[in-house]
Amino acid sequence: MTKTFKASVFRYNPDSDDAPYFQDFDIEYESGMTVLDVLLYIQDKYDSSLAFRWECRGGQCGSCAVRVNKIARIACRTKADPDEKLVLEPLEKMPVIKDLVTDMSQVTYRLRRIRPYVARDKVPQHPEIIHAHQIEKLREIRKCIECSACLSNCPIVHETWDYPGPMIIRQIARLELDPRDVEDRVAMAMNEMVYTCTTCKMCEDICPKKIKIPALAVELLRAKAVEAGYPLAEGQQAFLDSVNATGRSVPEKDTSLLAGLGTEEFLVKNPRGRVGFFTGCLIDYRMQSTGKAL
Ligand code: SF4
Ligand code: SF4
Ligand code: FES
Repeated sequence: MTKTFKASVFRYNPDSDDAPYFQDFDIEYESGMTVLDVLLYIQDKYDSSLAFRWECRGGQCGSCAVRVNKIARIACRTKADPDEKLVLEPLEKMPVIKDLVTDMSQVTYRLRRIRPYVARDKVPQHPEIIHAHQIEKLREIRKCIECSACLSNCPIVHETWDYPGPMIIRQIARLELDPRDVEDRVAMAMNEMVYTCTTCKMCEDICPKKIKIPALAVELLRAKAVEAGYPLAEGQQAFLDSVNATGRSVPEKDTSLLAGLGTEEFLVKNPRGRVGFFTGCLIDYRMQSTGKAL
């Protein structure tokens, strides 16, 4: 018997709807079905006016990113799970044009602002030889298909567009690593608030190309900024000062959580295993109430 599951899809047509709403559809599951297949099924079987973007269907064009159960992903490379309800929404931080189609002009504006091409100071007179070792570090960050899924998932972009987001910071790093590019990409990264990233790795986790943006772009640009003499961000400077002065990221003060707890033992009947809890400096000194709650 064919298995069916529910897909709940964000709908909004600014020309005719007062507010967005979700519409539920029953989907007949087929083995290997992707989220894009689900959308095409809905368009074919229920409503040809459902709007969404797609093109290559092969994880290359970057046009099909939507939020799948709250996490932005490319639809053509995300498998539908027939055992759970599928909730599909447009990317966050971008105005909705219709249904799952968003206005990408904020992204385009930020991309154009960083001049996303190899900048030259003169026209090469001869064919230039680029050696493999010169572009080795570029290989991974060059794989980006500009789907914008990472922008939609970045907690800093959620707070402010002052930070242009992982996709664009990645592009700055790509150009910084290109031996032909003559722009000061490190200064550009500082202007684009590269220190605002928390290195939470959300962008890396959801990237369809698995690009390690925090390590290969954010931390690379920060390291180059330090080499170039730019000051550290305020919090990082305080952290460094503390390590230099005390050997600890959080200076010792008052009584540590562990010292305050004494040696009381809490025995559990029939324990299934032993758990070690490392409090670290933060819980030990700054966040003692969190440690006690645990
Ligand atoms: S690691 Fe940085 S760029 Fe990536 S999602 Fe987190 S805050 Fe955003
Ligand atoms: S870095 Fe990954 S998630 Fe971000 S735009 Fe590029 S391919 Fe998409
Ligand atoms: S349709 Fe091209 S990446 Fe999904």
